Amino acid sequence: MIWKTRITEMINGLQYPIIMGAFAIIGRAEFAAAFSEAGGLGIVTALNFGTSEGFHKEIEKMKKLTNKPYGVNFTVWPPQVRSTTGRDRTEESYFDFLDIALDAGVKVYTTSAYKAAELGRKIHDAGGVWFHKCATVKHAISAEKAGADGVTIVGLEGTGFKNPNQNTTLVNMTMARKLLKVPLIAAGGIGDARGFLAALAMGADAVCFGSAIMATKESPAPEVWKSQVLNQDIFDEKFYKKIFHLELRDSAIGSMAVGHVNEETTIKEFIQNIIINAEEILRNWGVKGDEFNNT
Ligand SMILES: Cc1cc2nc3c(=O)[nH]c(=O)nc-3n(C[C@H](O)[C@H](O)[C@H](O)COP(=O)(O)O)c2cc1C
Repeated sequence: MIWKTRITEMINGLQYPIIMGAFAIIGRAEFAAAFSEAGGLGIVTALNFGTSEGFHKEIEKMKKLTNKPYGVNFTVWPPQVRSTTGRDRTEESYFDFLDIALDAGVKVYTTSAYKAAELGRKIHDAGGVWFHKCATVKHAISAEKAGADGVTIVGLEGTGFKNPNQNTTLVNMTMARKLLKVPLIAAGGIGDARGFLAALAMGADAVCFGSAIMATKESPAPEVWKSQVLNQDIFDEKFYKKIFHLELRDSAIGSMAVGHVNEETTIKEFIQNIIINAEEILRNWGVKGDEFNNT
């Protein structure tokens, strides 16, 4: 089946409406290239590179590993995170990296965690596509106003940067579809074909996978993370409280999406499982034809 959404239409050569999450520590070229080669949009996370030289090398590596589209993420730390943790990633700290990526021909950029309108403007000036990722519909509306070409909203079921006013993926997507005009990317708690299709039905134009791909063969995650993903009991009370009550201290790394992951597969197998099962569900629902089109 050919998969067409407003997001696949926006990114030349993107086969499926499937986008890789940004990953501190593990969001590197081999992992991202495998994701792009499997038909999704791989993402190199710039946060992982302390110097322009290191980032430049990674982008050069990426160019060797894949001819398919991929993107770069700039995670911008909010002021309160910067002041309490000493993490120093501001928008300005990425300007050199952005120039490197633009020179290398990277077309798609995701920003996340905090406002990134200045990066967005620079991306647009160079003809790139800018998606902003946030944790609430309110911030998604601000990102749309700031000019983002699409927004990812991470639901409470997800992992990563949390917000005390977060809603579930269902509320985010169905409300955002009414309140925003730009394409939407659903993130948070999605790990199988039913979640993928449900997100599209709720109004998303693509789905972002984070925790569910952490234990894939190409993921450079440490064994202890992979083991957590493969063995986590998502009905365990401590885990539940981590996700839904924001009790993050000493907690497992993944989200509710890990409940869908029981074996280590390749990225290609993971994406193919999503697509093959989604197509089978659509056929069982009586959908005919060789094209999924919700543009
Ligand atoms: C190990 C790990 C590291 C992450 N690092 C970042 C990051 O640096 N920046 C960011 O915007 N999101 C980060 N995320 C969040 C993901 O990009 C994505 O939004 C989230 O995992 C989606 O929810 P899911 O895990 O339920 O799929 C991280 C997620 C994981 C599991």
